[in-house]
Amino acid sequence: MIVYEVKTNFTEHLLTILRDKATDTEDFRKASLKLSEVLITEGISKLPIKKVTIDTPVENNITSITIQKEIIFLPILRAGLLLLPAAINAYSKGRIGFIGIKRNEETLKPYLYYFKSPIVRNGFYFILDPMLATGGTAYLTIEKLIEAGIKSENIFFISLICSQEGVKMLSQFKNIKIVTASIDRELNNKGYILPGLGDAGDRFCSTENVEVIESYGN
Ligand code: URA
Repeated sequence: MIVYEVKTNFTEHLLTILRDKATDTEDFRKASLKLSEVLITEGISKLPIKKVTIDTPVENNITSITIQKEIIFLPILRAGLLLLPAAINAYSKGRIGFIGIKRNEETLKPYLYYFKSPIVRNGFYFILDPMLATGGTAYLTIEKLIEAGIKSENIFFISLICSQEGVKMLSQFKNIKIVTASIDRELNNKGYILPGLGDAGDRFCSTENVEVIESYGN
């Protein structure tokens, strides 16, 4: 496994906005969009390239490069949707799939309730999830991709913040890549990352302090 921890003054500045509990929904969305784009472009820059020859309007036979492979963006519902606008912006040709995973409140084990994704054998899968906490959801997502025939070296996990525990969990997949802006100190007993930024899905969807209906069919 390779972990790319992107740390610049700009990513730290964006993390400060995201971590601050005084940040409102609008600024949270703006900062998460910008940070997502930094991380996704970092992931894209690790992909294989192909040399091409092009003509510019003023000169012919210019040797240049392009990204060789297909990219499939796979947000984990619901919080992973936070990264999707940035992904589309960064690589507008990318295909999109969705995966829904929920934790069984009795066994505490994650289970799959929805999975719809294009299967592109040699494509690169960018799993989108803003917080890699215990790693249970991420682990199951990677397992499902591998079951579908995707090579682990073609899987990127893009996360704004990771916990040490989550990174350790994913290290069982030898060849995957993680791209993140921070590996935070620890998890609390409710599975929140410390210092973290709270519930990323709630802050992005503006569903804090409101009643929410949640239903998964029969
Ligand atoms: N999911 C979140 O949104 N935040 C955490 O800290 C952990 C999991």
